[in-house]
Amino acid sequence: MQYGYFDAQAREYVITDPRTPVKWINYIGTRAFGGFVDHTGGALICRDDPALNRITKYVQQMPASDFKGETTYLRIYRPQGYQLLSPWFVPGLTELERFECHVGLGYTRLVSECAGLRADMTVFVPRGARVELRSLTVTNIGAEPLIVDAIPLVEFTHPDALQQFTNADWIPQTMQARAVQEGEFTVLLEYPFMWRDLRCNYLTSNSPASSYETDRAHFLGAHEYGSFAHPLSLDEAELGCHQAERGNLIGALLHPLGELAPGESRWLITQLGQADGNWQASRKDMARWRDPEQVAAALAELADFWEAYLAAQQVQTPDEDMNLMLNLFNPRQCHVTKTWSRYLSYYQLGMGARGIGMRDSAQDVLGVLPSVPQEGAEQLRLLLRYQLPSGACMHQFNPLSGVANAGDSLEMEDRPHYYSDDHLWLILAVAAYLKECGDFALLEEAVPFYDTQQPEQGCDAQRVREHLARGLAFTKAHLGRHGLPLLGFADWNDTVNLPAEAESLFTANLYGLALREFADLLTYLGNVAAARTYRVDYAAMQASVEAKAWDGNWYLRYFDESGRPLGSAQNEYGKLYLNGQSWPVISGFAAPQRARKAMDAVYEKLNTRYGLKLSWPGFNGYDAHYGGVTTYPPGAKENGGIFVHPNPWAMMAEALLGNGERAYQYYRQVNPAARNDLIDVYECEPYVYAQNILSDEHPQFGLARNSWLSGSAAWNYVAATQYILGIRPEYDGLRVDPCIPAQWNGFRVTRRFRGATYDIQVHNPSHVCKGVKRVTLDGQDLDGNLIPVDIQKESHTVEVWLGK
Ligand code: NOJ
Repeated sequence: MQYGYFDAQAREYVITDPRTPVKWINYIGTRAFGGFVDHTGGALICRDDPALNRITKYVQQMPASDFKGETTYLRIYRPQGYQLLSPWFVPGLTELERFECHVGLGYTRLVSECAGLRADMTVFVPRGARVELRSLTVTNIGAEPLIVDAIPLVEFTHPDALQQFTNADWIPQTMQARAVQEGEFTVLLEYPFMWRDLRCNYLTSNSPASSYETDRAHFLGAHEYGSFAHPLSLDEAELGCHQAERGNLIGALLHPLGELAPGESRWLITQLGQADGNWQASRKDMARWRDPEQVAAALAELADFWEAYLAAQQVQTPDEDMNLMLNLFNPRQCHVTKTWSRYLSYYQLGMGARGIGMRDSAQDVLGVLPSVPQEGAEQLRLLLRYQLPSGACMHQFNPLSGVANAGDSLEMEDRPHYYSDDHLWLILAVAAYLKECGDFALLEEAVPFYDTQQPEQGCDAQRVREHLARGLAFTKAHLGRHGLPLLGFADWNDTVNLPAEAESLFTANLYGLALREFADLLTYLGNVAAARTYRVDYAAMQASVEAKAWDGNWYLRYFDESGRPLGSAQNEYGKLYLNGQSWPVISGFAAPQRARKAMDAVYEKLNTRYGLKLSWPGFNGYDAHYGGVTTYPPGAKENGGIFVHPNPWAMMAEALLGNGERAYQYYRQVNPAARNDLIDVYECEPYVYAQNILSDEHPQFGLARNSWLSGSAAWNYVAATQYILGIRPEYDGLRVDPCIPAQWNGFRVTRRFRGATYDIQVHNPSHVCKGVKRVTLDGQDLDGNLIPVDIQKESHTVEVWLGK
């Protein structure tokens, strides 16, 4: 069963059946104003922060048939009464003759046909604006004239997203709505009383409304025994024009479109925004977005942004699904993920404390560097402010209040309240940024450390390079009995939470890679003596890992507080961990024979047709000793599920070991575009990575969840482009070092790098996986496979021949 198709030409995925197994979404706008739109037109919109300034009420847990946040009703006047239509299928479940949801780059376009009408609506947030626009065209595609009304509807929430659901006394007493006239246009204003003079949400349009409603009870009718599927007020000629003094707030504007002759269309633009202070402050903006030319220009500007964004790297490989992802949907997901961290999605609901996560957001930087390196630098500057003077980091912070906290570790008082990996990701991300654009000035910028007493100001501003050095020093100062880094509350795996004194092999390897990156950077900058001390630390950690962590056939993953291993053949559960094997290869710690053996164990014991499991076998029952991992049944999430984020680390490890077949097999297994025909098993969007897939230890093997906001986006992009296709930025050039399936004849990549574009054609005449035999740059033979930085010329042709 398929629910849609990829339209590579239009750069869209087109959903053609609204009854997808779960709602499929798209993102519009940015964190400053925006959110997501589901494929039935529902929308979760917020400004600046989904927890503290949420605008629409989107109750994810309610059934798919329910209305969520926003919708549009159309109605046709018939002598016997109004015929009510839901052109986006919900909430009326109108039988549609045609349905299309075009998931585009920063916009969603919905098209449907029913009862002789075509509705065609594009939803987006103009770049830099703080308003959601819905540009709707209604066309009479039948043979008879039709008298039509269009009623856009928004359901509002209190800005405090959590309180909306936890306090049914205070919230309804405070919510109010007003209607004002701006010339011929109605503007509905909505706010909690305490925000009346500060900020108010508004809904308006570019067409006169004959009536409106702001009170949900009046809109649904009969004390809310009317429903969104059939609001009783829409049986009447006009809405009740109530200005709510309290209660549950909606905004509905009734627009009589008049009589549409066959073939005739009407255009309606609605806008949902938030005014600062008095609503009149936004009058100019409202007027601007009533102008169809301005709306069209804003859509064109959005398209230009994405055109330039995607042009940074385009590939042509023999795998069409790979091309689709790498040229379009994967870089798009990387940007969305960088923007939203793990804060707001269909699964991560943006309430409470989570905010922006240090570990995740640092990794997200990697995924946007080829296209918008400056956005990466901005994110790094922000994250560095949440590093403590000790070198460790706060785990997460609220972007609006600027206040940080120690994440889930706060739930277990007896456990350490720091994460052993957070600060180390910053080093990898800064190094990647510097390799991408050579902007070494970043290292000299002063950034304050986080001060829990005065979060806004911070304390002790130090250069970025000092921040990185402190991170390494923190890990060095927090080693356990085997000379390995203490686990803290957790490492990358949030859910294994052992008591203090436990050690983490993951952090050992991450530390190793961070040491190597920092030493390489210092060497490049000419500071060889300092680099040497970090190389000594690297060698010491490598010696500890190699001496203490080899289990015979693979590497261990943890030592608990008593020094007992986890991730060992001796364990009953959790004998083998994926990251325990891929990371010693990535860090360079693993001796060649062990590296191969460990990765073969991964293939034998963790591989499934839908991807690599994170561990095996799953814990079968809750065990407070290990913590969160045992809250999941075997085969789900961190308990032996297919966690997609670490799959690309295995691809990278295989590519580093020269096994192009496996690296590619692992890539292909988790590529969502290759799942389009398997949606009834997979269920999530086939156009973006999901965080997790249930594994073969679970009865629902193959079912994905938590799509969009996941490290799977950045790392699959990095693994595919830098390790499989092998186009890797370095400080003084672009390395070309592919590791591909031997049967490939070659591939092509165009890559923007330091102001020039490189058209790289790779040939594989003797069908090898790896090994660059010859490279030419603009027709001249190169010595080696590093394309040097050239600021003289804007475009270059590179030819590469693989072979022995
Ligand atoms: C999801 C979290 O966002 C991420 O930080 C973590 O690494 C994974 N879960 C694994 O636990």
